[in-house]
Amino acid sequence: MLRILTAGESHGKSLAGIIEGFPSNVAINIDEIHQDLARRQQGYGRGGRMKIEQDRIEILSGVRDGKTLGSPIAFLIRNKDYENWESYMDPMEADTETKKVTNPRPGHADLIGALKYGFEDVRNVLERSSARETAVRVAAGSFVKQLLKNFQIQSAVHVTAIGEIAVNEKPRSFEEIWEAEDSPVRCVDPVIGQRMMETIDAAKKEGDSLGGIFEIYIQGLPVGLGSYVQWDRKLDAKLAYALMSIQAIKGVEFGYGFKNAQKPGSQVHDEIFYEKEKGIYRVTNHAGGIEGGMTNGQPIVIRCAMKPIPTLCKPLRTIDIQTGEAVEASVERSDTCAVPAASVVGEMAALTVIGEEFIRKFGGDSLEEMRQRWKDCKSI
Ligand SMILES: Cc1cc2nc3c(=O)[nH]c(=O)nc-3n(C[C@H](O)[C@H](O)[C@H](O)COP(=O)(O)O)c2cc1C
Repeated sequence: MLRILTAGESHGKSLAGIIEGFPSNVAINIDEIHQDLARRQQGYGRGGRMKIEQDRIEILSGVRDGKTLGSPIAFLIRNKDYENWESYMDPMEADTETKKVTNPRPGHADLIGALKYGFEDVRNVLERSSARETAVRVAAGSFVKQLLKNFQIQSAVHVTAIGEIAVNEKPRSFEEIWEAEDSPVRCVDPVIGQRMMETIDAAKKEGDSLGGIFEIYIQGLPVGLGSYVQWDRKLDAKLAYALMSIQAIKGVEFGYGFKNAQKPGSQVHDEIFYEKEKGIYRVTNHAGGIEGGMTNGQPIVIRCAMKPIPTLCKPLRTIDIQTGEAVEASVERSDTCAVPAASVVGEMAALTVIGEEFIRKFGGDSLEEMRQRWKDCKSI
């Protein structure tokens, strides 16, 4: 079983991650991990924090001479901003008054987190519920991406909507999606991309925030990852769990999930064909690569909806949790729109699930063992 654990507060000394169950003898390129971390940090609409941080990982264990050992991989991502927060965030002796927050932001974990864990200071909640934590998930996902590269699995992600500005929903190739990497909003269409940036500017000017939709594409998958035999082994269910666990993700759709619901079955299901040279094949992929909770050999296509960022420069109404009086919600330094960043987190979270299923199907001790069993795998 591949397991990822994350730790760390947004303004604490460091974030930390542990990856358990990663096979041995996988070559790790640390520059590629740094590239994925940078992809998460970039994107039009992000706030000032990302100008301070330049995320780098320090590997503490589980890797030797550039290759994994099969033992737990532990790593750190230091928070550069800690320099400015040390006196407020020191684990043993901190000033807990100056940065105290008692006016929870609607839409954030603030209010319920404080009630649940018995805090008078919402900072104790927001430091951990912050999406700063997703840097660790991206780094962990980047390790898994490097494992999956050995099996010709490729992924790409693009933003299909920011607020009301959206590209046409249609099947796209890996290459077309990959080109969106150069767009500041990760949009395949430069004209729509420009309009997305303008709508972010307008929201920022109004002190408001925006959400949107991104689409993850994964190709090169063998058939039969996941299973239909038990509810908690279905691949679409596992992917949805991982994606819904990302801060602010409120909807997950496979293929044309919601559109398919409005059409008759004759227009939805991907018909099956066979030719001697080609083997079994399909000409459509409305299902998004998963049938019966298993990969069907087609690319996986998943769309995720992100709600608008809860921290608004023009704050919403809330209450002071100490006095009950009506006040404005707190304003932390914040993004206006983080959909391009969240898309990278989504891509890495999805790859982590694919990696877990790969290890389950092909064995998880060493890369060589996986490779042998993968070669023997009956493909269509
Ligand atoms: C990459 C990324 C960046 C985010 N940046 C911010 C931010 O700057 N300010 C903010 O209030 N929320 C931000 N969020 C969203 C909050 O973390 C999220 O809404 C909050 O943790 C509450 O969780 P929930 O929306 O899942 O209920 C971000 C989310 C992601 C995925």
